[in-house]
Amino acid sequence: MNLPRFIALIPAAGVGARMGATVPKQYAELLGKPMLEHVMDTFVDCAQIHQIFVVVSADDAYIEDIPTKSRTQILRCGGATRQASVTNGLQAMQSQVNANDWVLVHDAARPGLTVALINKLIAAVKDDPVGGLLAMPVVDTIKRSDAHGHADHTVSREHLWAAQTPQMFKHAQLLSALQTGSHVTDEASAIEALGLKPTLVEGSPRNFKVTLPHDVLLAELYIKGIA
Ligand code: C5P
Repeated sequence: MNLPRFIALIPAAGVGARMGATVPKQYAELLGKPMLEHVMDTFVDCAQIHQIFVVVSADDAYIEDIPTKSRTQILRCGGATRQASVTNGLQAMQSQVNANDWVLVHDAARPGLTVALINKLIAAVKDDPVGGLLAMPVVDTIKRSDAHGHADHTVSREHLWAAQTPQMFKHAQLLSALQTGSHVTDEASAIEALGLKPTLVEGSPRNFKVTLPHDVLLAELYIKGIA
């Protein structure tokens, strides 16, 4: 069997409705560069990453404005959900990758990712039989609310983590897990549904997901190194 390589898959086919902007979230500019391009450049700068695949919608009108990057291919196969976009991307890249290659799936909406975080995840997971993901231990006290926004009870934060990306799994296993599983919001959930336990690797606050308009300013502070 070939030595597993490290492949990046960036789902970037969302619309980012909560941003309330006309441009899809992944194309919002941070320090004069689209969020997606920041993410692409981080993977390009990571010497361990063999190839980078970016999944956009078939009718994406913005991707052509991003300069061509080395080792990077654009796949116009975005789906209706993040899960569908990732599944379609894994299928589209299938002829170019091996079943045991690691795929690092990373949200285009997490522009704070660094090469050091990618390397940390790879180092922690590359000898693991299952795979793993960046995540943050939960530090706040967690409340579950009733339907009216009142605190119903407090959930223990012991052993609670907030999942980030990249999430790193073997190509063949991830594809079959996503195809057979029910609706999931991340790759690790599909792997957990197989009864497997992905490794949690501590990420960083700077790797947060840009969701609301003011998040753009915070992301810029992290990228500038101020926050
Ligand atoms: O919307 P949300 O922030 O959860 O999206 C996370 C990532 O998944 C983003 O990079 C977004 O572009 C991508 N996505 C996708 N296809 C969809 C929905 C989201 O590639 N249909």
